[in-house]
Amino acid sequence: MTRLTVYSDSDPSTVEHSTTDRAVIEAHLALAGILFEQWEAEQPIADTADSGAVLTAYAGAVATLKQARGFRSADVVRVPKGMPGTEPLRAKFLSEHTHEEDEARFFVEGSGAFYLHLDDKVYRIVCEAGDLLSVPAGIKHWFDMGPEPHFAAIRFFTRSDGWVAAFTGDVIADRFPKYDGPKYDGPK
Ligand SMILES: [Fe+2]
Repeated sequence: MTRLTVYSDSDPSTVEHSTTDRAVIEAHLALAGILFEQWEAEQPIADTADSGAVLTAYAGAVATLKQARGFRSADVVRVPKGMPGTEPLRAKFLSEHTHEEDEARFFVEGSGAFYLHLDDKVYRIVCEAGDLLSVPAGIKHWFDMGPEPHFAAIRFFTRSDGWVAAFTGDVIADRFPKYDGPKYDGPK
């Protein structure tokens, strides 16, 4: 279930705020300057839909976001259920980092957890199908796809050389609850 959990960055054991109400999540994140919204497919899409079909199904919303935020291109990344060898992939984004461009992800299927480190807070956002989250450029964050990764997401890019992570070297991510997957995720 889509969920926002807010912590102090110095106390991962105390939940300051937790909600699964998407409207509340949107409002809460908007106050912090973070874009979070829900999109609906303009036409039904199959689980096996290729990138072109996915982008077509969300063409209006994709075009609007590109225009509003200056993204030049979009693609679809898919990690299918049961894909072998995902451990290194999970580990890659589990350390705190920043990007020089916004990291916008729309979840078409499956789920994953973004952790945004803003001032003295950590915002943990479990995103599921229908959720769009845009992490602003320069915001410290990490991403946990869980122990059994499964998601398809539309990614947005402003640079032709793609999106590059600058790791902060802070091990803060190790102190916060991991994402256990949709079956086991609850208030942390
Ligand atoms: Fe990132």
